[in-house]
Amino acid sequence: MKKAKIIYNQDYSIAKIDNRIYGSFIEHLGRAVYTGIYEPDHPSADDMGFRRDVFEIVKEINVPIIRYPGGNFVSGYRWEDGVGPVEERPIRPDLAWRAIEPNKIGTNEFVEWAKRANSEVMMAVNLGTRGPEDAKNLVEYCNFEKGTYYSDLRRKHGYEKPHNIKVWCLGNEMDGDWQIGHKTAEEYGRVAHETAKMMKWVDPTIELVACGSSGRGMPTFPQWEATVLEHTYNDVDYISLHTYYGNYDNDTKNFLAKPLEMDDFIKTVISVCDFVKAKKRGKKTINISFDEWNVWYHSNEADRNMEPWMEAPPLLEDIYTFEDAIVVGGMLITLLKHSDRVKIACQAQLVNVIAPIFTVKGGPVIKQTIYYPYMYTSVFGRGTALMPIIHSEKYDSKEITDVPYIDSIAVVNEEKRELVIFGINRDLEEDSIVEINLGGFENIQFKEQVVYINDDIKAKNTPDNPNNVIPQKRNDVKIEGSSVECVFPKLSWNMIRLSY
Ligand code: AHR
Repeated sequence: MKKAKIIYNQDYSIAKIDNRIYGSFIEHLGRAVYTGIYEPDHPSADDMGFRRDVFEIVKEINVPIIRYPGGNFVSGYRWEDGVGPVEERPIRPDLAWRAIEPNKIGTNEFVEWAKRANSEVMMAVNLGTRGPEDAKNLVEYCNFEKGTYYSDLRRKHGYEKPHNIKVWCLGNEMDGDWQIGHKTAEEYGRVAHETAKMMKWVDPTIELVACGSSGRGMPTFPQWEATVLEHTYNDVDYISLHTYYGNYDNDTKNFLAKPLEMDDFIKTVISVCDFVKAKKRGKKTINISFDEWNVWYHSNEADRNMEPWMEAPPLLEDIYTFEDAIVVGGMLITLLKHSDRVKIACQAQLVNVIAPIFTVKGGPVIKQTIYYPYMYTSVFGRGTALMPIIHSEKYDSKEITDVPYIDSIAVVNEEKRELVIFGINRDLEEDSIVEINLGGFENIQFKEQVVYINDDIKAKNTPDNPNNVIPQKRNDVKIEGSSVECVFPKLSWNMIRLSY
């Protein structure tokens, strides 16, 4: 058995975690909306046709903010198509995903859905085929109280009170050639600046997210961020990051190391933000909205063969394995390690489309393997993140060197006097004894231990076997004064809750 040591100290904090780090994303893509959150004929449908069984699981995760309506979809979207009487709404071809968009759900319905899910909306505007004026109109429609054309239109549509949407994304992945209305950094920077000005003139209380690179591997990264921020530094509050990982060559050791790449991506973008800040003699700091992150690769082949122009096609329906869940757990640890700068993050996506929640049309809803680390971290990872000092053996993988087998983050919740330790063991062969030294905490007591392991690293939860992969509760944590000892089994995700 290997041995590792982790040191935390109550005084060595990273930051108070912004709850929005546990956000998610719903795009008009595949079956995320239609037969995902909305299925009027489903036995569990509520008065608006939303699936109650889906609400239950979304509420269990306690998702604070949900990005909407895209993604690539937003770059061709006319928001006006999705408001007003449903029978008058146009049916459109969605060029992003080569599907049919019926527009039965739009801004107002989604805001209502989010409210019922105890969440907030993070709205994206179309900077692909449209521009500043349409974005400004949408802010007016959503957030202006009354007495103007668009605010009164909202009221006419049955929504008397403004939606007060706080966070807005200035387009989506504008650096990618696949994007409708793809732009150079100069072109995007200019239009984002002009759009931001107009949106904030309508509602100065909103926060704005500029598009960063759609991945660390993009040829224009990180110059894209620098150029975009040169144009928008004074207008925006966040820059976006997106990343997806896959175990393409069935090289699990390499796949498990991917959260280190995410870490490097975040560090580089922080440096770029601070470089532009220095250059502009800026006072404010640009923070990070990691508004798309996840594992995504299982469905790629099926999607290449998908019939075009279907309504609610089963696109991006990754059925996740146990090893995917460990990568997701590792990505969450990485995000929390950067909670001083990552203020918003959205697991992409929430239902059916590369998602922790999977629905069967007319049938049940299931929790995928990746649901569990996301749910536990979101529910119990609220408070202040502590700086981890980790002594662990390391390995080299094909693309990444010096990968520690053990990774961890701790979150202290001062109100509840609770310390929660999250950790993974990437070792495929050996368990590890983990000694955790906790400085500054007194009278440490055991509350709960959750261990997520499985003999089959490719095991999945499916509609036929929905509870195939679920975490276990244990109680084999030894506490002696300020020292806590436990075992992180081989390939595992772990949570230990302590009171102090
Ligand atoms: O989340 C799926 C897609 O991934 C989004 O539409 C796009 O922004 C990204 O490329």
